[in-house]
Amino acid sequence: MQFEGKKGLIIGVANDRSIAWAIAQQIMNQGGKCGFTHLPDRPDDEKQKNRRRVSKLTDPHDNAEFLLPMDANNDDDIRTTFEHTAKVFGKIDFLLHSIAFADRDDLGRETMHTSRSGFKLAMESSVFSLMAITAAAEPVMNPGGAILTMTYYGGEKCVPGYNVMGVCKAALDAAMRYLAFDMGARNVRVNALSAGPVQTLAGRAAGVERMLKMYEHMSPLGRNITHEEVGRTGAFLLSDDSNGVSGEILHVDGGYHAMGSPGRLLDEIEKAQKG
Ligand SMILES: NC(=O)c1ccc[n+]([C@@H]2O[C@H](COP(=O)([O-])OP(=O)(O)OC[C@H]3O[C@@H](n4cnc5c(N)ncnc54)[C@H](O)[C@@H]3O)[C@@H](O)[C@H]2O)c1
Repeated sequence: MQFEGKKGLIIGVANDRSIAWAIAQQIMNQGGKCGFTHLPDRPDDEKQKNRRRVSKLTDPHDNAEFLLPMDANNDDDIRTTFEHTAKVFGKIDFLLHSIAFADRDDLGRETMHTSRSGFKLAMESSVFSLMAITAAAEPVMNPGGAILTMTYYGGEKCVPGYNVMGVCKAALDAAMRYLAFDMGARNVRVNALSAGPVQTLAGRAAGVERMLKMYEHMSPLGRNITHEEVGRTGAFLLSDDSNGVSGEILHVDGGYHAMGSPGRLLDEIEKAQKG
């Protein structure tokens, strides 16, 4: 029960496929208490779909303490969330930032044709959000606590198709390192988990289908990773077991990032060409 007595905030659950939910489940199953946020629904949306999808997951769970609407691009929402968090939990030990957004039109364009407004929106939602949330969390984080964000290899190298989100992830990785420095002075760690492709809403928008096929053939493990694997490593980075780790990008991608050639995929291409 690694998280017994620990409390924290999980930002980024949209449904049961969300990476944030995979991580939260591990934490709650190990005794951690979690508060959750969801993307606000439009007031005129009678079905309140965003809230409903998340509350279906959190309501039955004893260790899910609250669920609040929060748009990470809205300062009032962030303030309200952390005021509520302080009221319920006092201080917190862990914080998960698992959000990214870019307009579909911009994601589908060559990077050089990203629109100005789309670039600003993507960077604000996917990068500045981590900075704003870390600042808001600072007064309520216990010393020894940990913050985790979710990144992707497309920020380190060019992954065609990932486009503007690759630029965002590069900025997110840099922001994570600077925040690790800032928060290190408060004895709080900040890290990033770089996941291989997994089927989620955001993953689908970023072209995960083709990536899954490629990882299966190119990664050293010769397979894709599972939600549970990301969940367990995410929980590890938010737990005391990783106490000496900060400013790190930990890849959970079957080793794909370590490859400098297509590896076994090359054999298959040659085989296909011959036969
Ligand atoms: N799925 C993958 O293959 C993959 C791989 C590597 C990294 N990631 C990263 O993991 C993170 C989580 O994505 P996911 O794959 O679980 O998909 P997801 O769609 O389940 O989660 C994305 C979340 O971002 C939230 N969000 C977007 N804009 C927001 C805003 N303005 N305010 C508050 N919340 C907002 C959405 O509501 C959603 O909960 C993202 O940063 C994504 O880039 C995903």
